[in-house]
This record gives sequence, structure tokens and C-alpha cells, in this order.
Amino acid sequence: MKKKLRIAVFISGTGRTLKNIIERISAGKVSAEIVAVISSAANVVGLQYAEEESIPVEIIERSQCGSLKEFSEANFNVCRSYQADYVVLAGYLRFLEIPKDFENRVLNIHPSLIPAFCGKGYYGNIVHSKALEYGVRVSGCTVHFVDQDYDRGPIILQRTVEVYEDDTPDTLNDRVFAAECLAYPEALELIAEGRVSVKGRKVKIAPPTTSPRRDEIDF
Ligand code: GRF
Repeated sequence: MKKKLRIAVFISGTGRTLKNIIERISAGKVSAEIVAVISSAANVVGLQYAEEESIPVEIIERSQCGSLKEFSEANFNVCRSYQADYVVLAGYLRFLEIPKDFENRVLNIHPSLIPAFCGKGYYGNIVHSKALEYGVRVSGCTVHFVDQDYDRGPIILQRTVEVYEDDTPDTLNDRVFAAECLAYPEALELIAEGRVSVKGRKVKIAPPTTSPRRDEIDF
């Protein structure tokens, strides 16, 4: 049975990922409702998309909270208060400690094929510059569950893109972002369909359930 996921989307930047998720939900491609947008600062550009859609916004700044634990709890308390089933990190740039009740319920998208070009300090065009410097022929994006370390949790899915010899970080970023616009909604929809399970660091995606035709039913 397909579920309508209640998701909280966390942002720190331009909000392109948030915008894409809003559009995919409106187009009926993702069975989800954004119950809240949580921003790491008040002046984050992406907040405009939440405002346009009248999605509740919460600002939680790292500097207003004491320890990492307190900061993380402040964020997850908001998620609990909105009864969010999943947290979707969308260009969110703060480190969070994942509490027990949100294990395998926090998703992130990273603009490379993890475990390449990831970890602390790898964000934005830095990722693409490093990929180009290395000379890789393919790059892509990774949707994964978030655990207690940067870009390390179980991988839900990856999409690849070609790298061209005349690519710049910007052109590669455009191609990878186009792949992200497909991968994140796809992962969310798989979760809504109840097809995603996690065992250790492996994610299993069950095949789609199709109802048998009437003449196939053994009465
Ligand atoms: C992308 O690089 C994505 O992989 C990463 O954040 C960037 C998008 O940020 N998670 P935004 O949605 O434009 O703010």
C-alpha cells in the first residue's frame, strides 16, 4: 500500500532541490507532503519556495544552540512536532547527530558517486572540481540514508552522468543536478511505496507489487 510520506525538508542554500521536490509532488510523481521546511539561517535564498507554497518554516541556527547534541535535538524536536516520517536534507550544510528514532529516516543527496569525492568539506562545486582534477570519466549523484558521519550511510540509489573533457565545475554541476532532480524523487517514491528496507549498510529495493490479472487468480 502506497503511503503519503510526511517529510521535513532541511535547506541552507538556493533551494533548487526543495523546488524540485515541490514540483514533483505537485505533478503526482512523489507521494509526499512537505510538512515543514527547516533552514539553517534566516537569510537562506531557498526559503522563498516554502513561502510561495505556504509551507511552515522553522529557522534553527547553529550559533543559537549550545552543543551539537542540543542543536540536533532542536531540529529533530521540530520534526517530531510536525510528525515527520522522514527528513530530507536538501543542500543542508550543518552536521547533525541522528537520534535513535530517526535512524534510516534521514536522507541526503550528494553530487558524486559515493565513496568518491565525499566527506567533510566536499560540497557544491568543490566536489566537481575534485572530480575533474582526478580525471574521472563518469560522475553522478548518490541518495543515501544519513548516519553519524559525513556521506557514509547506506546508499539508496545512484545515477551516473558522463564527464566531458571540456567540462568545467559548472557544466558538470548542471549535468549532475539534472540527475539529482530524478534520483531524489525516485528514492522518495520508492520509500512511499514501502519498497525500501535497510540491513546493516545495504539497502534492499523490493520489486514493484503488481496486482495479478483476474484470470491469473486461482479461485
Ligand atoms: C547539490 O549539490 C546537492 O547535491 C547538495 O546540495 C546542492 C543543492 O543545493 N546536497 P540547493 O538545493 O541548490 O540549495
